[in-house]
Amino acid sequence: MAKAPAKKQDDRQIIRIFDTTLRDGEQSPGNSMNIEEKLRIAKQLQKLNVDVIEAGFPIASEGDFEAVKKVAQMIKGPQIAGLCRSNDKDIDRAWEALKYAGEKGRIHTFIATSDIHMKYKLKMEPGRVLESAVKAVKRAAGYTPNVEFSCEDAVRTRLPFLAEVVEAVIAAGATTVNIPDTVGYTIPFEYFNIIKYLKDNVPNIDKAIISVHCHNDLGLSVANSVAAVQAGARQVECTLNGIGERAGNCSLEEFVMILKTRGDILPFACNIATEQLTPSSRLLSNITGIAVQPNKAVVGANAFAHESGIHQHGMLMEKSTYEIMTPESVGLSASALVLGKHSGRHAFKKRLEELGHDLDGEKLNRAFERFKALADLKKEVFDEDLDAIVADEAREEEKYKLGHITVTCGSFAVATATVQMEIEGNAVRTAELGDGPVDATLKAIRKLSKTKASLMQYNVGSITGGTDAQGEVTVRVAEGQHVVVGKGSSTDIIEASAKAYIHALNRLNYKQKRMPEGV
Ligand code: KIV
Ligand code: ZN
Repeated sequence: MAKAPAKKQDDRQIIRIFDTTLRDGEQSPGNSMNIEEKLRIAKQLQKLNVDVIEAGFPIASEGDFEAVKKVAQMIKGPQIAGLCRSNDKDIDRAWEALKYAGEKGRIHTFIATSDIHMKYKLKMEPGRVLESAVKAVKRAAGYTPNVEFSCEDAVRTRLPFLAEVVEAVIAAGATTVNIPDTVGYTIPFEYFNIIKYLKDNVPNIDKAIISVHCHNDLGLSVANSVAAVQAGARQVECTLNGIGERAGNCSLEEFVMILKTRGDILPFACNIATEQLTPSSRLLSNITGIAVQPNKAVVGANAFAHESGIHQHGMLMEKSTYEIMTPESVGLSASALVLGKHSGRHAFKKRLEELGHDLDGEKLNRAFERFKALADLKKEVFDEDLDAIVADEAREEEKYKLGHITVTCGSFAVATATVQMEIEGNAVRTAELGDGPVDATLKAIRKLSKTKASLMQYNVGSITGGTDAQGEVTVRVAEGQHVVVGKGSSTDIIEASAKAYIHALNRLNYKQKRMPEGV
Protein backbone atom coordinates (compact mmCIF):
# COMPACT_ATOMS: atom_id res chain seq x y z
CA MET A 1 0.00 0.00 0.00
CA ALA A 2 1.37 3.41 -0.91
CA LYS A 3 2.31 5.57 2.07
CA ALA A 4 0.64 8.95 2.53
CA PRO A 5 3.15 11.67 1.62
CA ALA A 6 4.81 13.21 4.67
CA LYS A 7 3.42 16.66 5.49
CA LYS A 8 5.51 19.59 4.36
CA GLN A 9 7.74 20.86 7.17
CA ASP A 10 5.88 24.22 7.08
CA ASP A 11 2.50 22.68 7.89
CA ARG A 12 3.80 20.99 10.94
CA GLN A 13 3.25 22.12 14.49
CA ILE A 14 6.54 22.73 16.26
CA ILE A 15 7.13 20.75 19.44
CA ARG A 16 9.53 22.45 21.82
CA ILE A 17 12.22 20.23 23.27
CA PHE A 18 12.94 20.99 26.92
CA ASP A 19 16.02 19.09 28.00
CA THR A 20 16.35 18.26 31.69
CA THR A 21 19.50 16.12 31.54
CA LEU A 22 21.28 18.58 33.81
CA ARG A 23 18.47 18.65 36.39
CA ASP A 24 16.21 15.58 36.53
CA GLY A 25 18.89 13.48 34.79
CA GLU A 26 21.73 14.65 36.96
CA GLN A 27 19.91 13.98 40.22
CA SER A 28 19.78 10.22 39.53
CA PRO A 29 22.35 7.81 41.05
CA GLY A 30 25.71 7.75 39.28
CA ASN A 31 24.85 10.63 36.93
CA SER A 32 26.10 13.53 39.00
CA MET A 33 28.35 16.02 37.21
CA ASN A 34 30.57 18.83 38.34
CA ILE A 35 30.18 22.36 36.97
CA GLU A 36 32.72 21.92 34.21
CA GLU A 37 31.07 18.69 33.07
CA LYS A 38 27.65 20.37 33.12
CA LEU A 39 29.00 23.13 30.93
CA ARG A 40 30.30 20.62 28.41
CA ILE A 41 26.87 19.03 28.23
CA ALA A 42 25.18 22.43 27.97
CA LYS A 43 27.42 23.38 25.02
CA GLN A 44 26.49 20.13 23.32
CA LEU A 45 22.78 20.76 23.98
CA GLN A 46 23.26 24.12 22.29
CA LYS A 47 24.66 22.33 19.21
CA LEU A 48 21.77 19.89 19.37
CA ASN A 49 19.56 22.98 19.25
CA VAL A 50 17.21 22.14 22.10
CA ASP A 51 14.70 24.89 22.87
CA VAL A 52 15.18 24.90 26.65
CA ILE A 53 17.99 23.64 28.88
CA GLU A 54 16.95 23.01 32.46
CA ALA A 55 20.34 23.59 34.06
CA GLY A 56 19.64 22.69 37.69
CA PHE A 57 17.86 23.42 40.94
CA PRO A 58 19.63 26.57 42.18
CA ILE A 59 18.57 26.39 45.84
CA ALA A 60 19.65 22.74 46.19
CA SER A 61 23.34 23.56 46.70
CA GLU A 62 26.07 26.08 45.92
CA GLY A 63 27.25 23.78 43.12
CA ASP A 64 23.81 23.73 41.51
CA PHE A 65 23.51 27.50 41.82
CA GLU A 66 26.92 28.06 40.19
CA ALA A 67 26.16 25.59 37.41
CA VAL A 68 22.87 27.31 36.53
CA LYS A 69 24.54 30.71 36.67
CA LYS A 70 27.44 29.64 34.41
CA VAL A 71 25.11 27.97 31.91
CA ALA A 72 22.95 31.13 31.90
CA GLN A 73 26.06 33.24 31.27
CA MET A 74 27.65 31.09 28.59
CA ILE A 75 24.96 29.44 26.51
CA LYS A 76 23.47 31.37 23.62
CA GLY A 77 20.41 30.14 21.76
CA PRO A 78 18.35 27.89 24.02
CA GLN A 79 16.35 29.28 26.91
CA ILE A 80 17.79 28.39 30.33
CA ALA A 81 15.46 27.12 33.05
CA GLY A 82 16.07 26.66 36.75
CA LEU A 83 13.80 24.63 39.02
CA CYS A 84 12.36 25.92 42.29
CA ARG A 85 9.67 24.92 44.75
CA SER A 86 6.70 27.21 45.22
CA ASN A 87 8.19 29.46 47.90
CA ASP A 88 9.79 32.91 47.85
CA LYS A 89 13.29 31.81 48.86
CA ASP A 90 13.54 29.20 46.12
CA ILE A 91 12.18 31.54 43.46
CA ASP A 92 14.46 34.43 44.42
CA ARG A 93 17.50 32.17 44.42
CA ALA A 94 16.55 30.69 41.05
CA TRP A 95 16.30 34.13 39.47
CA GLU A 96 19.63 35.19 40.98
CA ALA A 97 21.24 32.44 38.89
CA LEU A 98 18.98 32.76 35.84
CA LYS A 99 19.06 36.54 35.42
CA TYR A 100 22.32 36.20 33.45
CA ALA A 101 20.31 34.64 30.61
CA GLY A 102 18.19 37.82 30.38
CA GLU A 103 14.93 37.25 28.57
CA LYS A 104 15.99 33.66 27.89
CA GLY A 105 15.89 32.83 31.59
CA ARG A 106 12.92 30.71 32.64
CA ILE A 107 11.74 30.19 36.21
CA HIS A 108 10.28 26.72 36.59
CA THR A 109 8.29 26.43 39.79
CA PHE A 110 6.28 23.44 41.01
CA ILE A 111 4.09 22.03 43.72
CA ALA A 112 2.39 18.65 44.05
CA THR A 113 -1.34 18.51 43.35
CA SER A 114 -2.32 14.85 43.84
CA ASP A 115 -4.22 13.91 47.02
CA ILE A 116 -1.54 11.46 48.00
CA HIS A 117 1.28 14.04 47.75
CA MET A 118 -0.73 16.86 49.34
CA LYS A 119 -1.74 14.68 52.31
CA TYR A 120 1.47 12.76 53.05
CA LYS A 121 4.28 14.88 51.66
CA LEU A 122 3.12 18.47 51.81
CA LYS A 123 0.58 18.01 54.63
CA MET A 124 -1.41 20.80 53.01
CA GLU A 125 -5.07 21.18 52.13
CA PRO A 126 -5.85 21.61 48.38
CA GLY A 127 -6.90 25.23 48.95
CA ARG A 128 -3.48 26.11 50.40
CA VAL A 129 -1.69 24.29 47.57
CA LEU A 130 -3.66 26.33 45.05
CA GLU A 131 -2.81 29.54 46.93
CA SER A 132 0.90 28.68 47.06
CA ALA A 133 0.97 27.86 43.36
CA VAL A 134 -0.63 31.20 42.41
CA LYS A 135 1.57 33.16 44.80
CA ALA A 136 4.70 31.47 43.44
CA VAL A 137 3.81 32.13 39.82
CA LYS A 138 3.06 35.79 40.61
CA ARG A 139 6.40 36.19 42.34
CA ALA A 140 8.24 34.51 39.44
CA ALA A 141 6.34 36.65 36.92
CA GLY A 142 7.66 39.70 38.78
CA TYR A 143 11.12 38.70 37.55
CA THR A 144 10.35 37.42 34.06
CA PRO A 145 7.40 36.73 31.77
CA ASN A 146 8.99 33.34 31.06
CA VAL A 147 7.42 31.24 33.85
CA GLU A 148 6.73 27.52 33.80
CA PHE A 149 4.53 25.92 36.43
CA SER A 150 4.45 22.15 37.09
CA CYS A 151 1.69 20.27 38.90
CA GLU A 152 3.84 17.54 40.39
CA ASP A 153 2.16 14.10 40.20
CA ALA A 154 -0.43 15.58 37.82
CA VAL A 155 -1.37 12.16 36.49
CA ARG A 156 -2.70 11.08 39.91
CA THR A 157 -4.41 14.41 40.54
CA ARG A 158 -8.22 14.67 40.53
CA LEU A 159 -8.98 16.16 37.13
CA PRO A 160 -11.30 19.01 38.28
CA PHE A 161 -8.64 20.12 40.78
CA LEU A 162 -5.91 19.83 38.12
CA ALA A 163 -7.98 22.03 35.80
CA GLU A 164 -8.58 24.55 38.61
CA VAL A 165 -4.84 24.82 39.36
CA VAL A 166 -3.90 25.10 35.68
CA GLU A 167 -6.46 27.84 35.09
CA ALA A 168 -5.33 29.77 38.17
CA VAL A 169 -1.59 29.63 37.40
CA ILE A 170 -2.16 30.73 33.81
CA ALA A 171 -4.21 33.65 35.10
CA ALA A 172 -1.34 34.43 37.50
CA GLY A 173 1.19 34.60 34.65
CA ALA A 174 2.46 31.10 33.82
CA THR A 175 3.24 30.87 30.11
CA THR A 176 4.00 27.13 30.17
CA VAL A 177 2.07 24.61 32.26
CA ASN A 178 3.62 21.23 32.79
CA ILE A 179 1.52 18.12 33.47
CA PRO A 180 4.10 15.60 34.68
CA ASP A 181 3.73 11.88 35.11
CA THR A 182 6.07 12.08 38.09
CA VAL A 183 5.85 8.42 38.98
CA GLY A 184 5.70 6.91 35.49
CA TYR A 185 2.22 5.51 36.11
CA THR A 186 0.08 6.49 33.16
CA ILE A 187 -0.50 4.80 29.81
CA PRO A 188 -0.82 6.57 26.43
CA PHE A 189 -4.63 6.41 26.18
CA GLU A 190 -5.12 7.81 29.68
CA TYR A 191 -2.50 10.55 29.25
CA PHE A 192 -4.05 11.61 25.94
CA ASN A 193 -7.37 12.01 27.76
CA ILE A 194 -5.84 14.04 30.60
CA ILE A 195 -4.33 16.53 28.17
CA LYS A 196 -7.56 16.63 26.16
CA TYR A 197 -9.56 17.19 29.36
CA LEU A 198 -7.43 20.24 30.15
CA LYS A 199 -7.80 21.56 26.60
CA ASP A 200 -11.58 21.18 26.88
CA ASN A 201 -12.08 22.37 30.47
CA VAL A 202 -9.57 25.15 31.16
CA PRO A 203 -10.98 28.35 29.62
CA ASN A 204 -7.62 30.16 29.33
CA ILE A 205 -5.60 27.12 28.22
CA ASP A 206 -4.72 28.76 24.89
CA LYS A 207 -2.73 31.42 26.76
CA ALA A 208 -0.08 28.88 27.74
CA ILE A 209 1.92 26.07 26.21
CA ILE A 210 1.10 22.64 27.59
CA SER A 211 4.23 20.73 28.50
CA VAL A 212 4.63 17.07 29.42
CA HIS A 213 7.26 15.38 31.54
CA CYS A 214 7.11 11.59 31.67
CA HIS A 215 9.02 9.17 33.85
CA ASN A 216 9.75 5.71 32.60
CA ASP A 217 8.78 3.41 35.48
CA LEU A 218 6.62 1.26 33.21
CA GLY A 219 8.72 1.82 30.10
CA LEU A 220 6.08 4.12 28.57
CA SER A 221 7.61 7.58 28.90
CA VAL A 222 8.24 8.05 25.19
CA ALA A 223 4.89 6.56 24.11
CA ASN A 224 3.08 8.72 26.67
CA SER A 225 4.85 11.85 25.41
CA VAL A 226 3.80 11.07 21.84
CA ALA A 227 0.19 10.56 22.95
CA ALA A 228 0.26 13.88 24.83
CA VAL A 229 1.50 15.71 21.76
CA GLN A 230 -1.32 14.18 19.74
CA ALA A 231 -3.73 15.55 22.34
CA GLY A 232 -2.31 19.08 22.18
CA ALA A 233 0.89 19.30 24.26
CA ARG A 234 3.50 21.47 22.56
CA GLN A 235 6.53 21.03 24.80
CA VAL A 236 8.14 17.72 25.72
CA GLU A 237 10.57 17.42 28.62
CA CYS A 238 13.20 14.77 28.11
CA THR A 239 16.81 13.79 28.76
CA LEU A 240 19.77 12.46 26.80
CA ASN A 241 19.88 8.66 26.99
CA GLY A 242 16.63 8.88 28.99
CA ILE A 243 18.50 9.35 32.29
CA GLY A 244 16.58 10.59 35.31
CA GLU A 245 14.98 9.68 38.61
CA ARG A 246 14.49 5.90 39.04
CA ALA A 247 13.83 4.37 35.59
CA GLY A 248 14.58 7.71 33.97
CA ASN A 249 12.73 10.23 31.80
CA CYS A 250 11.48 10.31 28.23
CA SER A 251 14.52 9.73 26.02
CA LEU A 252 15.19 12.81 23.89
CA GLU A 253 16.72 10.85 21.01
CA GLU A 254 13.82 8.40 20.79
CA PHE A 255 11.11 11.06 20.93
CA VAL A 256 12.83 13.25 18.35
CA MET A 257 13.39 10.39 15.91
CA ILE A 258 9.76 9.30 16.24
CA LEU A 259 8.68 12.76 15.06
CA LYS A 260 11.19 12.67 12.23
CA THR A 261 10.55 9.11 11.11
CA ARG A 262 6.75 9.06 11.40
CA GLY A 263 6.02 12.36 9.70
CA ASP A 264 3.51 10.42 7.59
CA ILE A 265 1.10 10.22 10.53
CA LEU A 266 2.45 12.73 13.06
CA PRO A 267 2.08 16.31 11.78
CA PHE A 268 4.79 17.66 14.10
CA ALA A 269 8.39 18.76 13.87
CA CYS A 270 11.05 20.00 16.25
CA ASN A 271 14.18 22.11 15.94
CA ILE A 272 16.68 19.41 16.89
CA ALA A 273 19.81 18.91 14.77
CA THR A 274 19.39 15.13 14.69
CA GLU A 275 22.94 14.46 13.46
CA GLN A 276 24.06 15.69 16.90
CA LEU A 277 22.12 12.92 18.69
CA THR A 278 24.88 10.31 18.73
CA PRO A 279 27.63 12.77 19.75
CA SER A 280 25.37 14.05 22.54
CA SER A 281 24.58 10.58 23.83
CA ARG A 282 28.24 9.56 23.74
CA LEU A 283 29.40 12.71 25.46
CA LEU A 284 26.99 12.10 28.31
CA SER A 285 28.02 8.49 28.88
CA ASN A 286 31.62 9.52 28.54
CA ILE A 287 31.24 12.10 31.29
CA THR A 288 29.11 10.04 33.67
CA GLY A 289 30.76 6.68 32.95
CA ILE A 290 27.32 5.12 32.51
CA ALA A 291 27.13 3.14 29.30
CA VAL A 292 24.09 3.08 27.06
CA GLN A 293 22.56 -0.39 26.75
CA PRO A 294 23.58 -1.85 23.35
CA ASN A 295 20.00 -2.41 22.20
CA LYS A 296 18.80 1.09 23.14
CA ALA A 297 16.75 2.63 20.32
CA VAL A 298 18.52 5.25 18.16
CA VAL A 299 21.82 5.54 20.09
CA GLY A 300 22.60 2.00 21.29
CA ALA A 301 25.68 0.30 19.78
CA ASN A 302 23.41 -2.22 18.02
CA ALA A 303 20.73 0.23 16.86
CA PHE A 304 22.00 0.01 13.27
CA ALA A 305 23.72 -3.40 13.37
CA HIS A 306 22.23 -6.10 11.16
CA GLU A 307 23.26 -9.54 12.30
CA SER A 308 21.03 -12.09 10.59
CA GLY A 309 21.88 -13.23 7.08
CA ILE A 310 18.38 -12.47 5.78
CA HIS A 311 18.57 -8.91 7.09
CA GLN A 312 22.07 -8.40 5.71
CA HIS A 313 20.94 -9.66 2.32
CA GLY A 314 17.96 -7.27 2.32
CA MET A 315 20.20 -4.38 3.35
CA LEU A 316 22.56 -5.05 0.47
CA MET A 317 19.65 -4.98 -1.98
CA GLU A 318 17.86 -1.93 -0.56
CA LYS A 319 18.60 -0.29 2.78
CA SER A 320 14.99 0.64 3.51
CA THR A 321 14.10 -3.08 3.75
CA TYR A 322 15.32 -3.11 7.34
CA GLU A 323 16.35 0.47 8.10
CA ILE A 324 13.62 2.98 8.98
CA MET A 325 16.10 5.82 9.56
CA THR A 326 19.70 6.20 8.42
CA PRO A 327 22.68 6.05 10.77
CA GLU A 328 23.88 9.33 9.24
CA SER A 329 20.64 11.07 10.25
CA VAL A 330 21.47 10.46 13.93
CA GLY A 331 25.12 11.35 13.49
CA LEU A 332 26.62 7.89 13.34
CA SER A 333 29.49 8.01 10.88
CA ALA A 334 29.87 5.01 8.59
CA SER A 335 33.50 4.46 9.51
CA ALA A 336 34.64 4.36 13.10
CA LEU A 337 38.32 4.29 12.12
CA VAL A 338 39.56 7.83 12.26
CA LEU A 339 43.13 8.66 12.96
CA GLY A 340 46.60 7.20 12.95
CA LYS A 341 50.05 8.20 14.10
CA HIS A 342 50.53 10.62 11.22
CA SER A 343 47.36 12.55 11.95
CA GLY A 344 48.00 16.13 12.97
CA ARG A 345 46.65 18.25 15.75
CA HIS A 346 44.12 19.95 13.48
CA ALA A 347 42.56 16.66 12.32
CA PHE A 348 42.56 15.45 15.92
CA LYS A 349 40.74 18.55 17.21
CA LYS A 350 38.24 18.44 14.33
CA ARG A 351 37.38 14.80 14.97
CA LEU A 352 36.97 15.51 18.69
CA GLU A 353 34.54 18.31 17.83
CA GLU A 354 32.55 15.96 15.58
CA LEU A 355 32.32 13.61 18.55
CA GLY A 356 31.02 16.40 20.76
CA HIS A 357 34.26 17.21 22.62
CA ASP A 358 35.20 20.89 22.58
CA LEU A 359 38.69 20.90 24.07
CA ASP A 360 41.12 23.80 24.08
CA GLY A 361 44.35 24.87 25.72
CA GLU A 362 46.01 22.58 28.20
CA LYS A 363 43.30 19.92 28.01
CA LEU A 364 43.66 19.69 24.25
CA ASN A 365 47.47 19.46 24.58
CA ARG A 366 47.21 16.63 27.11
CA ALA A 367 44.66 14.76 25.01
CA PHE A 368 46.79 15.17 21.85
CA GLU A 369 49.92 13.88 23.58
CA ARG A 370 47.99 10.92 24.89
CA PHE A 371 46.59 10.26 21.39
CA LYS A 372 50.11 10.34 19.89
CA ALA A 373 51.37 7.91 22.52
CA LEU A 374 48.41 5.62 21.84
CA ALA A 375 48.86 5.85 18.07
CA ASP A 376 52.46 4.69 18.57
CA LEU A 377 51.25 1.66 20.50
CA LYS A 378 48.25 0.83 18.31
CA LYS A 379 48.05 0.95 14.55
CA GLU A 380 44.48 2.18 14.48
CA VAL A 381 42.82 4.72 16.74
CA PHE A 382 39.01 4.53 16.83
CA ASP A 383 36.34 7.00 17.92
CA GLU A 384 35.85 4.98 21.09
CA ASP A 385 39.57 5.39 21.88
CA LEU A 386 39.21 9.15 21.46
CA ASP A 387 36.17 9.21 23.75
CA ALA A 388 38.17 7.36 26.39
CA ILE A 389 41.17 9.68 26.08
CA VAL A 390 38.95 12.74 26.47
CA ALA A 391 37.18 11.18 29.44
CA ASP A 392 40.56 10.93 31.19
CA GLU A 393 42.20 14.14 30.03
CA ALA A 394 39.39 16.69 29.99
CA ARG A 395 38.99 16.66 33.74
CA GLU A 396 39.59 19.73 35.82
CA GLU A 397 42.28 19.84 38.47
CA GLU A 398 41.04 17.45 41.10
CA LYS A 399 41.92 16.51 44.66
CA TYR A 400 43.54 13.16 43.81
CA LYS A 401 45.92 12.74 40.89
CA LEU A 402 47.65 9.53 39.82
CA GLY A 403 51.43 9.63 39.54
CA HIS A 404 53.22 6.33 38.98
CA ILE A 405 52.45 2.68 39.60
CA THR A 406 54.86 -0.26 39.75
CA VAL A 407 53.50 -3.75 40.20
CA THR A 408 55.09 -7.15 40.59
CA CYS A 409 52.91 -10.16 40.09
CA GLY A 410 52.90 -13.62 38.56
CA SER A 411 51.75 -17.16 39.25
CA PHE A 412 54.35 -17.58 42.00
CA ALA A 413 54.55 -14.04 43.41
CA VAL A 414 52.47 -12.20 45.98
CA ALA A 415 51.16 -9.24 44.00
CA THR A 416 52.67 -5.98 45.20
CA ALA A 417 51.84 -2.46 44.04
CA THR A 418 53.75 0.71 44.74
CA VAL A 419 51.61 3.75 44.01
CA GLN A 420 52.67 7.35 43.95
CA MET A 421 49.95 9.98 43.74
CA GLU A 422 49.29 13.62 44.50
CA ILE A 423 46.70 14.67 47.04
CA GLU A 424 45.89 18.37 46.84
CA GLY A 425 49.29 18.95 45.27
CA ASN A 426 51.34 16.90 47.77
CA ALA A 427 53.16 13.82 46.49
CA VAL A 428 52.59 10.68 48.58
CA ARG A 429 53.64 7.07 48.06
CA THR A 430 52.96 3.66 49.55
CA ALA A 431 53.13 -0.06 48.75
CA GLU A 432 50.55 -2.78 49.39
CA LEU A 433 50.20 -6.50 48.87
CA GLY A 434 47.04 -7.83 47.31
CA ASP A 435 45.09 -10.62 45.82
CA GLY A 436 46.37 -9.85 42.33
CA PRO A 437 47.84 -6.60 40.95
CA VAL A 438 44.52 -4.70 40.69
CA ASP A 439 43.64 -5.47 44.29
CA ALA A 440 47.12 -4.40 45.46
CA THR A 441 46.91 -1.14 43.46
CA LEU A 442 43.44 -0.20 44.70
CA LYS A 443 44.45 -1.03 48.28
CA ALA A 444 47.42 1.34 47.99
CA ILE A 445 45.17 4.13 46.66
CA ARG A 446 42.69 3.44 49.41
CA LYS A 447 45.40 3.74 52.03
CA LEU A 448 46.82 6.98 50.60
CA SER A 449 43.45 8.64 50.13
CA LYS A 450 42.16 7.38 53.52
CA THR A 451 38.79 6.85 51.84
CA LYS A 452 36.03 5.01 53.67
CA ALA A 453 34.05 4.43 50.49
CA SER A 454 33.17 0.89 49.44
CA LEU A 455 33.89 -0.43 46.00
CA MET A 456 30.53 -1.79 44.86
CA GLN A 457 31.38 -2.79 41.33
CA TYR A 458 34.46 -3.26 39.17
CA ASN A 459 34.25 -3.99 35.43
CA VAL A 460 36.98 -4.24 32.87
CA GLY A 461 36.39 -4.34 29.13
CA SER A 462 38.27 -3.67 25.96
CA ILE A 463 37.38 -0.49 24.06
CA THR A 464 38.08 -1.97 20.62
CA GLY A 465 39.33 -5.35 19.36
CA GLY A 466 42.90 -6.72 19.39
CA THR A 467 45.41 -7.39 22.15
CA ASP A 468 46.76 -3.85 21.73
CA ALA A 469 43.33 -2.38 22.53
CA GLN A 470 42.87 0.02 25.40
CA GLY A 471 41.33 -1.55 28.47
CA GLU A 472 38.49 0.43 29.98
CA VAL A 473 37.67 0.07 33.65
CA THR A 474 34.44 1.24 35.26
CA VAL A 475 34.01 1.26 39.02
CA ARG A 476 31.04 2.10 41.20
CA VAL A 477 31.91 3.49 44.61
CA ALA A 478 29.55 4.35 47.48
CA GLU A 479 29.78 6.16 50.76
CA GLY A 480 26.66 6.94 52.78
CA GLN A 481 23.97 8.29 50.49
CA HIS A 482 26.39 9.02 47.66
CA VAL A 483 27.04 6.63 44.78
CA VAL A 484 29.43 7.54 41.97
CA VAL A 485 30.87 5.95 38.87
CA GLY A 486 34.52 6.29 37.82
CA LYS A 487 36.08 5.42 34.51
CA GLY A 488 39.67 5.03 33.33
CA SER A 489 41.38 3.75 30.21
CA SER A 490 44.85 2.69 29.21
CA THR A 491 46.54 -0.07 27.22
CA ASP A 492 47.64 -1.23 30.71
CA ILE A 493 44.63 -2.42 32.70
CA ILE A 494 46.31 -1.87 36.08
CA GLU A 495 46.76 1.79 35.18
CA ALA A 496 43.18 1.93 33.82
CA SER A 497 41.94 0.50 37.14
CA ALA A 498 43.87 3.05 39.17
CA LYS A 499 42.58 5.90 36.99
CA ALA A 500 38.98 4.70 37.30
CA TYR A 501 39.23 4.40 41.09
CA ILE A 502 40.81 7.85 41.43
CA HIS A 503 38.19 9.32 39.11
CA ALA A 504 35.47 7.87 41.34
CA LEU A 505 37.13 9.22 44.51
CA ASN A 506 37.32 12.69 42.96
CA ARG A 507 33.65 12.58 42.00
CA LEU A 508 32.72 11.39 45.46
CA ASN A 509 34.73 14.20 47.00
CA TYR A 510 32.93 16.73 44.77
CA LYS A 511 29.56 15.25 45.64
CA GLN A 512 30.26 15.23 49.38
CA LYS A 513 31.33 18.87 49.29
CA ARG A 514 28.34 19.83 47.19
CA MET A 515 25.78 17.82 49.11
CA PRO A 516 26.85 16.85 52.62
CA GLU A 517 25.12 13.81 54.20
CA GLY A 518 21.50 14.40 55.15
CA VAL A 519 20.81 17.26 52.73
O1 KIV B 1 8.85 14.46 37.77
C1 KIV B 1 8.44 15.59 38.10
O2 KIV B 1 7.28 15.80 38.45
C2 KIV B 1 9.41 16.67 38.07
C3 KIV B 1 8.85 18.04 38.26
C4 KIV B 1 9.64 18.83 39.22
C5 KIV B 1 8.71 18.70 36.93
O3 KIV B 1 10.57 16.46 37.83
ZN1 ZN C 1 10.81 14.45 36.87
